[in-house]
Amino acid sequence: MTSRVYNFSAGPAVMPVEVLEEARENLLSLGETGIGILEHSHRGKAFMAVRDEAEALIRELASIPDNYDVLFLQGGASLQFGMIPMNFLSEGQTADYLVTGAWSKKAVTEAKLFGNVHIASTSEDRNFCYIPKQAQFSSYPAYIHFTSNNTIFGTQYAAEPDVPEDSILICDASSDIFCRPIDVSKYAMIYAGAQKNLGPSGLTLVIIRKDLVEAGSESLSAMLQYRTHAENQSLYNTPPTFGIYLVGRVCAWLKAQGGLAAIEAKNRAKAGVLYDYLDSSELFRPTADHDSRSLMNVTFVTGDADRDAEFLKQVTAAGFQNLKGHRSVGGMRASIYNAFPAEGVDALVNFMRDFEAKS
Ligand SMILES: Cc1ncc(COP(=O)(O)O)c(C=O)c1O
Repeated sequence: MTSRVYNFSAGPAVMPVEVLEEARENLLSLGETGIGILEHSHRGKAFMAVRDEAEALIRELASIPDNYDVLFLQGGASLQFGMIPMNFLSEGQTADYLVTGAWSKKAVTEAKLFGNVHIASTSEDRNFCYIPKQAQFSSYPAYIHFTSNNTIFGTQYAAEPDVPEDSILICDASSDIFCRPIDVSKYAMIYAGAQKNLGPSGLTLVIIRKDLVEAGSESLSAMLQYRTHAENQSLYNTPPTFGIYLVGRVCAWLKAQGGLAAIEAKNRAKAGVLYDYLDSSELFRPTADHDSRSLMNVTFVTGDADRDAEFLKQVTAAGFQNLKGHRSVGGMRASIYNAFPAEGVDALVNFMRDFEAKS
């Protein structure tokens, strides 16, 4: 087999090797069934056990209260940008959005198709390099939406934003879900495309309070109503069975790592190694403000586009892949999600030190 490189991709992203090895076995036969995971009916006993275990592990890891549904949907996080206002925002109503990056802006664009949008805070004035400390909410927003981690800009909310009591708080947690413990009861809904911290693309995890499901519009196409998926345990139509299997295995891996508190400690240690070096470097500097830095996506530049390009050329040749930053930030981005190995971060920092010494 070709040896694996350090893959710093922002998503789809590195998966735990143990999960990939187990999946390889289960492609040919899921357990003793003689039928591969891709070939099982989504209504059969074997797959139902896989689905139920995935949900149970998600509930256990995040201590999800019973009054929340766990849904496995399709259409990526991007479909949620539209489904949320479609279900919960009607003409004449206002939804509040905290705008901290390109993904929040896309969510705003979709919401405007269905009702009014109030931008309660934004960090666009400094190209989204920080998380605003304050927000001005409208009087009775239908809901408040924020993006917990900004994949492109390398910023992350250190904790949930302060919102008025009884607000319906909705979070796009696509790029930091389960990177640390989460108090689900603070949210009405959390959603995440799976392809960074949970598994493969093509599956969106939605954790949603049951009363919100009930409150959703009833005049939408069935696939676009949360109640359809809640009432049918995400089996209204053929679900992304392989994705559900993989999310379950990733959650089993997370549990074996010691759960979310343990993975947070590992994530802090990994990100700490990189930020400590960046803070001491005279060549590289992080692009995000100190108090807004992401544990998942570390963005940095040299300040000279040619030197960035030279660094990227050399680092890629040395086996560190997908470090190029998004074009709207430039420079470099190291995505170091839960499954990214600590040795890979150490090796990158060693490479950067050498590069700096030779510069
Ligand atoms: C924070 C965030 N939200 C939403 C998306 C869009 O997700 P999808 O491609 O699953 O629609 C991404 C993708 O990278 C993301 O990082």
